[in-house]
Amino acid sequence: MNLQTHASKAAEIPADARVELVFQDEPLPELLASDDSSLSGLLSELVGSPEMKGKAHESTVLHTQGKLSTRRLLLLGAGKRDELTLERLGKLAGQAARAAQRQEWKSLVFGGTLLVAGMDVAQVAEALVGSAVMGLMSLDTYKTEDQSKATLETMVLADPSRQAALESGGKRGLVLGEAANTARSLVNEPGNDLYPAAMAEKVKALAEGAGLSVEVLTASQMRDKGMGLLLAVGQGSDNEPRLVTIRYGDFEGKPTLGFVGKGITFDSGGISLKPGLGMQDMKTDMSGAAAVAGAMLALAQLKPQVNVLGVIPMAENMPSGKATRPGDVVRGMNGKTVEVVNTDAEGRMILADALVHAQELGATHIVDLATLTGACVVALGHVATGAMGKPQEWVDQVMNASRAVGEKIWQLPIYDEYRELIKSEIADMENAGGRWAGPITGAWFLKEFVKDETAWVHLDIAGTATIESDVPHLPKGASGVGVRALVRLAEEIAAG
Ligand code: BES
Ligand code: MN
Ligand code: ZN
Repeated sequence: MNLQTHASKAAEIPADARVELVFQDEPLPELLASDDSSLSGLLSELVGSPEMKGKAHESTVLHTQGKLSTRRLLLLGAGKRDELTLERLGKLAGQAARAAQRQEWKSLVFGGTLLVAGMDVAQVAEALVGSAVMGLMSLDTYKTEDQSKATLETMVLADPSRQAALESGGKRGLVLGEAANTARSLVNEPGNDLYPAAMAEKVKALAEGAGLSVEVLTASQMRDKGMGLLLAVGQGSDNEPRLVTIRYGDFEGKPTLGFVGKGITFDSGGISLKPGLGMQDMKTDMSGAAAVAGAMLALAQLKPQVNVLGVIPMAENMPSGKATRPGDVVRGMNGKTVEVVNTDAEGRMILADALVHAQELGATHIVDLATLTGACVVALGHVATGAMGKPQEWVDQVMNASRAVGEKIWQLPIYDEYRELIKSEIADMENAGGRWAGPITGAWFLKEFVKDETAWVHLDIAGTATIESDVPHLPKGASGVGVRALVRLAEEIAAG
């Protein structure tokens, strides 16, 4: 995708289409008056009619027959002006980009009505470009037909007086959108192509290509380090586990963040086998890992002054003669023992060793992201991520960063009483807590591997990592959740 910025008026730039907004309960925007007269009043006739009331995501395409600089004008309903947010603007841009893609337009201009008065222009440009880039990602890598379709080649942002802000914001949008797309592409990969060693190779190549340093641990190296929980999850598969550590930043006097992502490349449940229906979706059980990888790639380009460790444990959870059995007791890297009562509660086990590893490497402020529990999907649906952690100031900081980038998030408590639910008769804890408070017992398990002095937030993205069906701005599949939130968080810490 080629992004251009110009110091001329958007309405003067030639392209296949220009997108403009229409607000609910408002007449045709003043900015479109001259377009309207060039089109002999077509716009004022349309706007406010049942076809275009300005409700969010309404859309109409007009062919301009040489009367405007672009061959088409795409009008999008933006909803009520006082309800407009950066998030909605981004979604509208994603919708426009997807319309362009579908209809094989090669160039798209973002019109003046998208640069809404009262909003920071650079932030608007970032949201527009970031979301458009995400909307454009194609899911047909494995399709053997229909590869010949033309794709959108150029997006244009233009304004006579604000080119610098458009340029800087637009560039950030490109970086963030592409980082999110990298994460989404990884998530959409099937388990036969993306097993732990393959994912480790891929992530290493991407990160080293971005100038980051990467270390990959094999199973025998994990054995030397005592990572018994990660190994226990991986041992049932012919595909060995891996642990990837990516380092960003070498800034003295700055804190070291730890981003830890669950990388189960396929979750069959193990001996506690999952039901067959929908099991194929468990190829996405590495969405947390993909988000961490994507965020690290974006940091390498945006270069905030902060140190970040990306720690990504990868394993395939399979049943076999070598697999961990329910009832087995295994030992984590910090020496704590775990009675495995359900081999399908594997995510917390691989994260536990990764959390200890991240702390040993110096992480003082940790965020882990994991498609950890179906119970979190029951509680919050596909709308909000579940957040749990300590101390409260760190939880608030992570949640604010998430909300600032339009990712909805909701906190659940980790009261002491819930610890009872993972009590074991014979070991320090069980790996699963039964029917009640699923996301919280998952968090309590993880908390056992976090030192008192470490700030830590666990994000359960089981519901938010994927989109169940197409929406105007995104195709179904991986959402890229977490990438922009982690980058935002790192930038806020860098700014102090
Ligand atoms: N990967 C699953 C959680 C999941 C479910 C993610 C649905 C996305 C959609 C996780 O490993 C799992 O199996 N969790 C168990 C935990 C239980 C055994 C304590 C679950 O949710 O049933
Ligand atoms: Mn599982
Ligand atoms: Zn899982």
